[in-house]
Amino acid sequence: MLAQWLDFLGLLAVLALLGAAVVLTAVLREMAPAAGLAGRRRFLLAAAFGLGVLAFAAKATAIGIMVTMPEATLAYLAALQPPKRSPHPRALPRSGPPPVKAPYAWQALPPTAPDPDGNPTTAEKVALGERLFHDKALSLDHSVACASCHDVIGGTGVDGRATSEGIAGQLGKRNAPTVWNAAFQARLFLDGRAPSLEEQAKGPPVNPIEMGMANLAAVTARVAAEPAYRAAFAQAFGPDRAIDIQAVVGAIAAYERTLVTADSPYDRYVRGDKAALDAAQVRGMALFEKVGCVVCHHGPNFSSASRFDARAPYRLFPAYGNDYVARYRLADDLGLALGPSGRGVWKVPSLRNVALTGPYFHNGSVARLEEAVRIMATSQLGFKVMAEPAGAGAVYLSTADHALHRVERRVLGEADVRDLAAFLRALTSERLATIVEGGGSAL
Ligand code: HEC
Ligand code: HEC
Repeated sequence: MLAQWLDFLGLLAVLALLGAAVVLTAVLREMAPAAGLAGRRRFLLAAAFGLGVLAFAAKATAIGIMVTMPEATLAYLAALQPPKRSPHPRALPRSGPPPVKAPYAWQALPPTAPDPDGNPTTAEKVALGERLFHDKALSLDHSVACASCHDVIGGTGVDGRATSEGIAGQLGKRNAPTVWNAAFQARLFLDGRAPSLEEQAKGPPVNPIEMGMANLAAVTARVAAEPAYRAAFAQAFGPDRAIDIQAVVGAIAAYERTLVTADSPYDRYVRGDKAALDAAQVRGMALFEKVGCVVCHHGPNFSSASRFDARAPYRLFPAYGNDYVARYRLADDLGLALGPSGRGVWKVPSLRNVALTGPYFHNGSVARLEEAVRIMATSQLGFKVMAEPAGAGAVYLSTADHALHRVERRVLGEADVRDLAAFLRALTSERLATIVEGGGSAL
């Protein structure tokens, strides 16, 4: 390489000298006389041409070097380049690898719910809570227990009605959610107004439609009047503690914390059993993430109001206007909505066991899971659901008005709806599914 290079330089030097001689002769002999120049001016012209030749020689040398030693040349040029600066240097971490957009991490449900401060779960408390949960003495006319609306023995923690029926056959306005896995929720009630199971359990006994007791003191008095309870409370809370409302709801909540279903095909799949879900369910699972259901129904309990992450527990529902709102009267009850916005605000519910806990939504107006999926996709994510999906911008003939319509929105096909519903069915506890099929007992 070096020898070649020296040869090249030598050749260049000879050429430069020859060139200079030719230029000098040409300038002094031919051009200067022709231009009528004499004396010092002749030499100035010659020098100008000479510099031109030198510049040419320098360029030729540089090109020669680059061509013969491309790597060295590039390395040199790279070293000259100033280091690249990010347009937003403050947004980047000072060290470590660049941030990557985290993919959604699917998680199984832990088999036990966490204990809260001040109310540890014990076997005695759970047994007492189970008894209270099934006791009709907690209602005014001894006709309704918690379990009347949340059947956890022969059912799936719900009453199967659109809206619940309380004492004296009175109908409430809302659909009963299941108590299974409620222990994982950071907000309870459909509008999330209770922050814990303990606080939640103070509601139904004094609700005039549900259990109708005059006040919480009356509830405590009912319980304390029963001799068998006195022994059970002493075992659960110690002999010195009087039966107060905090102990009553503490026992009920401790029992509810044992109502956990971590045995769905989804949980098995996430724990590594690849055969736990069928092809439609896996497609539905991918869609559930891709179309954005996970934005609200995320984490192990499929709810952004869960104890795993409760940063956004409430959402507008319906968020986008659509035909379903009038058909199912979805905006008659506005949930937590305060003020004159006119739009409902609801807690994002868990979707575990959702296939067994219909009918759906706060008013129980929707019977089929597929219809609930269509409503969610339309009203929460702005999709249009079509039998045969066409891309945005496509034109289709509507059978309703025989007019051509243009697809303006994101579109979900009926096959996608079926896959999403298939995935939701994979969230069903295998134990609860057997009781429903066999009419047996969960406990
Ligand atoms: C008359 C039927 C009825 C009775 C009796 C009843 N509930 Fe409910 N329960 C409901 C309804 C309806 C809701 C939803 C109400 C709302 O959100 O406004 C609900 C909500 C709940 C929730 C919230 C679940 C969640 O995910 O947010 C829990 C927990 C619960 N009930 C437990 C109990 C307990 C404990 C008792 C007994 C002390 C009880 N319920 C008595 C009908 C009933
Ligand atoms: C922007 C938040 C949000 C998104 C996105 C969302 N949901 Fe929901 N979902 C909710 C809220 C809030 C409710 C409760 C509405 C009510 O009770 O009236 C709900 C209720 C449901 C229910 C009924 C549960 C029951 O027991 O009644 C189902 C099923 C459901 N969602 C499935 C889905 C699916 C499937 C997707 C994706 C296509 C989805 N959701 C996307 C917020 C959301």
